[in-house]
Amino acid sequence: MSDILIVYYSRTGKTRMVGQKLAAILDADIEEIREAKDRSGRMGWLIAGKDSLIAKPAELTSEHSVEPRKAVIIGMPVWANRPPPAVRAFLSRYDLAGKKVCAFCTHDGGGGKGLFAKTAKIVPDGLAATLAMKKPKPDDPVLDEQLRQWADEIREACE
Ligand SMILES: Cc1cc2nc3c(=O)[nH]c(=O)nc-3n(C[C@H](O)[C@H](O)[C@H](O)COP(=O)(O)O)c2cc1C
Repeated sequence: MSDILIVYYSRTGKTRMVGQKLAAILDADIEEIREAKDRSGRMGWLIAGKDSLIAKPAELTSEHSVEPRKAVIIGMPVWANRPPPAVRAFLSRYDLAGKKVCAFCTHDGGGGKGLFAKTAKIVPDGLAATLAMKKPKPDDPVLDEQLRQWADEIREACE
């Protein structure tokens, strides 16, 4: 079992793709955060935005092996400049006190500043490293290099 766990939430696969690349670089374990609510289609999109704005509690359907880890990296899409409800649910269910917690996000151009500020407030010791990626593409060498550099930052933060 790796000292580093990557958990991610992804509605349309971009954050999953980034998480999988990062897991390969860091040789980390990776787990998907899943929730009961179906967020597919246009209605799913609209309700997701509303739920994120009001921080509506989500029901998780996944379990996570957080306890033995030194570091937890959380990946998520930006939803209305905020972390999605499933990520809030993960953070309220699992105690991350004493662990290094890093976060990455994918977005369409709004950036990750608001999301990281809001996430840092609900992580016991704040975020040790963050990375925001706009519309990441699986075959983009710039993304791969960005992730390699961020992986170095995470390893340093975890020393
Ligand atoms: C409900 C909702 C709200 C969103 N809000 C934002 C936003 O505030 N800023 C932004 O840049 N992108 C926003 N997006 C776009 C997603 O963050 C972006 O497409 C992301 O890469 C999707 O990741 P995924 O494929 O892992 O779900 C939003 C998407 C959804 C579904």
